[in-house]
Amino acid sequence: MSALVATAETPAQRRIALLGVGTVGRALIERLDALDDPRLRLGLLANSRRRLPVHGQTLPRDWAQSLAQGEAHDGSGLLPDLQPGDIVVDATASAELAAWHPRWLRQGLHVVSANKLGLGGPLLRQHEIRALAGEGRHYGDAATVGAGLPLIRTLRELRAGGDRIGAVVGVLSGTLAWLFDGYDGSEPFSARVRAAVAQGFAEPDPRVDLSGEDVRRKLLILARTAGYPLEHSEVRVDSLLTPAIIAAAPDRLDAALGELDAPLAERAARTARDGRVLRYVARFDAAGARIGLEALAADDPLAVGRGCDNRVAIWSTRYRDRPLQIQGPGAGAEVTAAALLDDLLRIVA
Ligand SMILES: NC(=O)c1ccc[n+]([C@@H]2O[C@H](COP(=O)([O-])OP(=O)(O)OC[C@H]3O[C@@H](n4cnc5c(N)ncnc54)[C@H](OP(=O)(O)O)[C@@H]3O)[C@@H](O)[C@H]2O)c1
Repeated sequence: MSALVATAETPAQRRIALLGVGTVGRALIERLDALDDPRLRLGLLANSRRRLPVHGQTLPRDWAQSLAQGEAHDGSGLLPDLQPGDIVVDATASAELAAWHPRWLRQGLHVVSANKLGLGGPLLRQHEIRALAGEGRHYGDAATVGAGLPLIRTLRELRAGGDRIGAVVGVLSGTLAWLFDGYDGSEPFSARVRAAVAQGFAEPDPRVDLSGEDVRRKLLILARTAGYPLEHSEVRVDSLLTPAIIAAAPDRLDAALGELDAPLAERAARTARDGRVLRYVARFDAAGARIGLEALAADDPLAVGRGCDNRVAIWSTRYRDRPLQIQGPGAGAEVTAAALLDDLLRIVA
C-alpha cells in the first residue's frame, strides 16, 4: 500500500477517525490510498471492539492485523484524541454512534456519515445535527441515501431556491431494486434473496432489507430535508417479512425465507397479466408517507432502471407538471465510499 498522505504537515491537513472498517470502510481506505491527498490523514481506525491509532503519516500495510490487536473499547463514540477541526467518519450502522453525531459536532469535529441513523433516527437528533452543522462544522450526508446520487443535495438546493417540495416518490433500496428487477415469479424469490446475499447486494441478514426499515430511514432523511418533519411512526411500512421469518433464529432463516415464494410468485403473475411490474416504492407528500410493494406500469419512470439502480421523482414548485427524475446506482461499497470521500473533500476544499 502506498503512503496515504504526503509527509509535510500543512495547516489544512485533517485527521480522520474512521469508525467502521467493514465493506464500506475498507473501500474508503482504498480510495483514500489511491487519491493520496496530503490534506486527509487517517488518524484512527475502529471496529466495534478495537481501535488502532495511526501514528505517523502512513497507514501500515498490515493495519487489519494491527487493529485486531489494537486497544479494546466499548463501542462508544468517545474520541479523546481528536481536536476541533478533525473529522469523524461513521461507516457503521450503529445506533449508539449515531447518537454521538450531535455531540461530535458540538466538540467542533466534522462528521461524515454512511450511517442513516444520524439524520434518519429521532427527529430531535436530525434537528440538532442540522442546527449544529455550518459555522465551520460540516455534516456530510451524501452517502446516507442513494450512495452519493444527488438526492439530498437537490432537495436542499430546490428549497434554497424558493421551491416547495410537493411530493417525492422513489425506489430507494438498491437491494430491493435488484430483487425485483426482472422478477416474474418463475424462480423462487428466496433464491434471489440468497443470491443477493452471496453477491453482496443484501445485508448479511436480509431481513434488514426485506423489512423496509432501511428504506424507512432513507425516506425520513429525504422527507425531513424536503420540509416534512416526520417521525418514524408516521411512515406506513408494508414489510415483506412474515411473522415466522421475523422470529427465525439465524440457522433457520434460510428455510423460513421459502414462505415468501408462493405469495410473491402469485402476486408477480397477477401483476404481469396486467402488464405491470412489481417495485418496492417509497413515497411522501402532504397527505402522508408510505413504503411498500406496488404494481407499476411497465413504462413508469420508477419501473425502468437496472440492477441496483435507485430512481427518484421529485415534484416541486418548478417541477409541477413533470417531475425532476434522478436515477443511478444507489448501493454498493464503491459508490458509497466515493460519496464519503466527496464529503471529505468538501471539508478540506
Ligand atoms: N454496503 C453498502 O453497499 C452500503 C451502501 C450504502 C450505505 N451503507 C451503510 O454504510 C454503513 C456500513 O455498511 P457496511 O456494509 O460497511 O457494514 P459492515 O460491513 O457490517 O461493517 C460495519 C463496520 O462497523 C463496525 N462497527 C459496528 N459498531 C461499531 C462501533 N460502535 N464502533 C466502531 N465500529 C463499529 C463493525 O465492526 P465489527 O466488524 O467489529 O462488527 C464493522 O467494521 C451502514 O450504515 C450501511 O447501511 C452501506
